[in-house]
Amino acid sequence: MDKIIIRGGKRLSGTIPVSGAKNAALTLLPCALLTDEPLTLRNLPRLADIDGFQHLMNQFGVTTVIQGSRPEDFGRVMSLEATRITSSVAPYDLVRKMRASILVLGPMLARMGEATVSLPGGCAIGNRPIDLHLKALEALGATIELAQGYVRAIAPDGGLPGGRYSFPVVSVGATENAIMAAVLANGKSTFHNAAREPEIVDLCKLLVAMGAEIEGIGTSDLTVHGVSRLHGATYRVMSDRIEAGSYACAAAITGGEVFLKNAVAEEMEATIQALRDAGVAIEPRRDGIQVTADGPLKPVTLSTAPYPGFATDMQAQLMALLCLAKGSSVLTETIFENRYMHVPELNRMGAKIETKGRTAVVHGVDELTGAEVMATDLRASMSLVIAGLAAKGETQVHRLYHLDRGYERLEEKLALVGADIERVGDD
Ligand code: UD1
Repeated sequence: MDKIIIRGGKRLSGTIPVSGAKNAALTLLPCALLTDEPLTLRNLPRLADIDGFQHLMNQFGVTTVIQGSRPEDFGRVMSLEATRITSSVAPYDLVRKMRASILVLGPMLARMGEATVSLPGGCAIGNRPIDLHLKALEALGATIELAQGYVRAIAPDGGLPGGRYSFPVVSVGATENAIMAAVLANGKSTFHNAAREPEIVDLCKLLVAMGAEIEGIGTSDLTVHGVSRLHGATYRVMSDRIEAGSYACAAAITGGEVFLKNAVAEEMEATIQALRDAGVAIEPRRDGIQVTADGPLKPVTLSTAPYPGFATDMQAQLMALLCLAKGSSVLTETIFENRYMHVPELNRMGAKIETKGRTAVVHGVDELTGAEVMATDLRASMSLVIAGLAAKGETQVHRLYHLDRGYERLEEKLALVGADIERVGDD
């Protein structure tokens, strides 16, 4: 397996292009199941998770074509056509590798009247149940059966009637599944306390482009008027706000000056605020965000929260940055339990972080030192790369498959702005 070697201490300077958003792509791709016409998605990131989802769609009989993409380009265009769906089963082997496979449940149920998806099982960042996905679909009129590790959702003859559901906890995935099931229902559906992450807005915008009728887009109260059919569309995936935030932290920890091309400031205000609180200058521009860090880093106190709060997916990367702040920061993780797996690894690099339950106290230190590290999830892995960029000496980050799931050509992008970073085969 490959590893990344970083020789820290280089100040980052230049432009990093931000890719299409992984988490948006993973809910836009299953929308192809909702129509027999072609869906073309532009600006899809080239990531292992997207390849996995393409494979899953092929399994259902969906044809996929990658168009006009040169290896040197970031992003790609994919056309998906679900003229005939030949299977409505998402098998264990694919779901196990990619939790987001659960997002086929709603659209498959809407189109075929039934869907069977393997239960995703445990996950490194906490239990991650799918009970809310199932309750929302039940509220729309589906019957849910659980057997042999699979969940089967069945619509009544004539299709889902639609219904009302109030989410007891804000869930991005459950909101996505519910919306995708409701767009083809016979009647109206209303959702309260729905997630309103920008990726949900992106999903709604695509569905509207396909002919869906959705009110309240961008709010936590959504009304979906079911329509009898959706048509094809061509749509550009939004920019990845978590990738952009991660590179902002990378620039900041090196005292650098980086322009994040395509980053959209309005979609990452909580991250921008946290960086400003840490003493980093952030300047939104028409086609991106300028990040400049030339003074000392300041400590920050914050909690993760559903959007528009500070994203749990940015917690590890911000923590890496705060390791070098002048003072103690307090971060509280409210979304997932067990999302501090980067802490022992950062401490091995000379950080001084203590955790107690959901809270981490980050005592700023004067310097970090390179080490061999490995992480067990995507964002935790990125936090180690960020720490490595500032650390004295060499950092080796192992288990790159996490990074490859979520960061398109990470080492190339960081090398573009002057990082001393390379990917080599593990010995
Ligand atoms: C999505 C993102 C992930 C991000 C997370 C929170 C994708 C592919 N992944 O994950 O990167 O970290 O949002 O912003 O978009 N919950 C339940 N029951 C459910 C569903 C969720 O109890 O049926 C709980 C979870 O355990 C968690 C909270 O709700 O504590 C939020 O999870 P959720 O928003 O659903 O996360 P995902 O959609 O899995």
